[in-house]
Amino acid sequence: MHNGIIENFKALRGELTEAGARLESETDTEVVAALIERNLSAGMPAEKAVRKALARLEGAFALAIMICGEADTLYASRRGSPLVLGFGDGQVSLGSDTLALCGLATEVCHLEEGDFAILKAARAEIFDENGKPAKRPLKPMTATAGQLDKGNYAHFMQKEILEQPTALADTLGKYINPLEAKVELPELPFDFKEITKVNLIACGTSAYAARVGKYWFESYARLPVEAEIASEFRYRDVVIGEGELNLFISQSGETLDTLVALRHCREKNLRTAAIVNVAGSTMTREADVTFLTYAGVEIGVASTKSFTCQLMVLAALAIGAGRARGVLTKAGEAVLVQALEEIPAKLAEVLYHDQAIRALSAAVSKARNVLYLGRGCLYPVALEGALKFKEISYIHAEGYPAGEMKHGPIALVEEDIPVVILAPSQGVHLKTFSNMEEAKSRGAKIILISDAEGVREHGPGTMATIIMPSVPDIALPLLYAVPVQLLAYHTAVRKGNDVDQPRNLAKSVTVE
Ligand code: F6R
Repeated sequence: MHNGIIENFKALRGELTEAGARLESETDTEVVAALIERNLSAGMPAEKAVRKALARLEGAFALAIMICGEADTLYASRRGSPLVLGFGDGQVSLGSDTLALCGLATEVCHLEEGDFAILKAARAEIFDENGKPAKRPLKPMTATAGQLDKGNYAHFMQKEILEQPTALADTLGKYINPLEAKVELPELPFDFKEITKVNLIACGTSAYAARVGKYWFESYARLPVEAEIASEFRYRDVVIGEGELNLFISQSGETLDTLVALRHCREKNLRTAAIVNVAGSTMTREADVTFLTYAGVEIGVASTKSFTCQLMVLAALAIGAGRARGVLTKAGEAVLVQALEEIPAKLAEVLYHDQAIRALSAAVSKARNVLYLGRGCLYPVALEGALKFKEISYIHAEGYPAGEMKHGPIALVEEDIPVVILAPSQGVHLKTFSNMEEAKSRGAKIILISDAEGVREHGPGTMATIIMPSVPDIALPLLYAVPVQLLAYHTAVRKGNDVDQPRNLAKSVTVE
């Protein structure tokens, strides 16, 4: 069993075929089996044959190997991709994720980079990357089979969208002191007063959370921020000063692009921190400090509750940084914390639009293209809306900063194209209404997501309106994320797509 990619498989394949091996597939995985077989045929004992083969591999992988005639033994090794051992009830099991071992194990142990393990009966021997016997900490299995059950929900994604009020309340509860209306962060290995810049680094949906975070760190802590795509950040010749904080964001804590970027910073002795949902995952073990999100287990491939929980932690961190740097007063902090405290209840109100959005998805599911527009902190939410929509409905969608439309993308606006507008009637968002008019006058079907005032003033002539609660700026991205999640979900269901397991995608992306 192989997770990951053997990067030098072409060279190995050439070498094996030249030596007379007959390979039956084009896969990189078969090359591993063929290497082991060659070693066995040369008379090596099984363990040596496996170790020697592993030493030839380049790339990122987790492997579980069984040899014909040795059915009581499994060999396992990880490089890049995660691998977890589970112990319980007289058996040892092996999985790429703790959740996979639910119901099989009462204790788990994460293999570390380069580890090799031999599993026999209920025992496992572990060796480190230098082949020395190693001990890895055992942790109790915290996931329960109940968390893996979708109950009466049609899909995990639906369950996870609807769980957001609780997930957000649980997450917020870990980062604030409600009695004093202030942020309380875990002990930090750095002082925000000394930080000169924040680099927020992530992939996909988590990278959109990073982009929202940029607005908050800039506004509330007056810190310069770069929001970076991990796979680009790692391979650019980026200039990072010693005073900078490199904050990695990931639901799984295993995404290889993000992990490689984190390791790159560690190698350079730069400050690292991580916002992660899966406790015990690789990033939580490697970053200097971890800020967990308490979204609970997320099974649907399309990230929903973990996105809003990442936003919650970013908001708390930005406020904490602002206070530490003397940018926010105690009273200013209290106002923001109170706004965060109201989010779970306000989000529950937004969920009442579920059925209206389901009805709306009938028209949207017939579109070939959909545009999402927003400004300021709702621009990344427009990007996230488009990503969520395309990844599960398989309909092309793009998110844009509303002001950028006239610089090119407006050419895409044709008769009947659905355009989702994220625009509360406050601040910079007011400007989005004129961008909406530009699209409307060219025949676009507008779906306006705004507050009561925005809908009253700008709703006439639109295809649909969704009335959102009026909330302070800091709460906007968390609440406006919900209708775009629901629109993606209902459109995908209507199209008969596999919502929880969309094509070509995996929950945890452990290849570069
Ligand atoms: C989209 C989605 C992905 C992930 C991305 C990063 O719905 O879920 O774009 O956000 O693969 O994953 P994590 O957050 O686990 O690092």
